[in-house]
Amino acid sequence: MFISKLWRLGAQASKGLSKAPLTIPSRRSFFPIVQNDSLDASSRKLFSTTNSQEENEDKQKISVTFFDKDGEQEIKVLIGMSMLEATHENDIELKGACEGSLACSTCHVIVMDVEQYNKLEDPTDEENDMLDLAFGLTETSRLWCQVIAKPELDGLRLALPAATRNFAVDGYKPKPH
Ligand code: FES
Repeated sequence: MFISKLWRLGAQASKGLSKAPLTIPSRRSFFPIVQNDSLDASSRKLFSTTNSQEENEDKQKISVTFFDKDGEQEIKVLIGMSMLEATHENDIELKGACEGSLACSTCHVIVMDVEQYNKLEDPTDEENDMLDLAFGLTETSRLWCQVIAKPELDGLRLALPAATRNFAVDGYKPKPH
């Protein structure tokens, strides 16, 4: 008796359910599709990753210009990178015989503006000792391997000395004949 009553109740409930309209939301209402050409330029820029990535990469670089007898050449240097390394990557004719171990002065450069020179970290005593051996030393001379790119150095202008003193990395200096 009790079981048959339950069975009837269940049957009525399932009938009621089958009468109710079954509505399944369309996929479109879950994920509205936005046509690309309906976006204005600023919205497209907002969703685009390529342009903003390039802009970010550019923001992480500074520009440095070298001047020598053949003209000028501008390079982009990643912030935090050794200036000498960046210079070599860009095929600028600047030696660096000891590869930054302060055992030569072949990476000697001259900062063209005093104001820019003052933005560089002060040279260490070791750098000053090696600078004393550099050919054509000036008040704004630096050993390029000791300078690390930082945002304040953006726009740095450098002259490459016409010559470097050519001595061996171990400090041996050839005597004049
Ligand atoms: Fe030798 Fe800079 S590369 S001192």
